[in-house]
Amino acid sequence: GASVRVGVSKIEPGQMITVAWQGKPVWVLRRTRQNLKNLDLESHREELRDPDSEVNQQPDYAKNTYRSIKKEVFVAVGICTHLGCVPNYEPDGRAEVKHALFFCPCHGSKFDLAGRVFKGVPAPTNLIIPPHHYLDNKVLEIG
Ligand code: FES
Repeated sequence: GASVRVGVSKIEPGQMITVAWQGKPVWVLRRTRQNLKNLDLESHREELRDPDSEVNQQPDYAKNTYRSIKKEVFVAVGICTHLGCVPNYEPDGRAEVKHALFFCPCHGSKFDLAGRVFKGVPAPTNLIIPPHHYLDNKVLEIG
């Protein structure tokens, strides 16, 4: 299938863009240093259903805490693993989740900025990370 190239150097910390790949929305988010710190907190990991991504929802090279190749650049298929709605990026968090997250408006599933699903929501698994790689420092290729 066709791959998609994305320039990542102009995406600001905290900014997310969406591109289409194989008819699906794919998010490219540049996480802030604070975002990355939050992903690693033990108190946060305890809120997650599958913090180590044991259910295989990503390529091997993205099987790490950040679920990415470059720590700061997060790439994910923007489709809820419950029934397929598109979650919203909420950089300011929500009352019940104090830091930035993805929130699915359909039935309230919550995912952190590594796409890891919170406990107690309908979505069963983490978001899917598509195959991707870097052509150079600035250009990401999805697919
Ligand atoms: Fe996202 Fe149901 S489709 S919570």
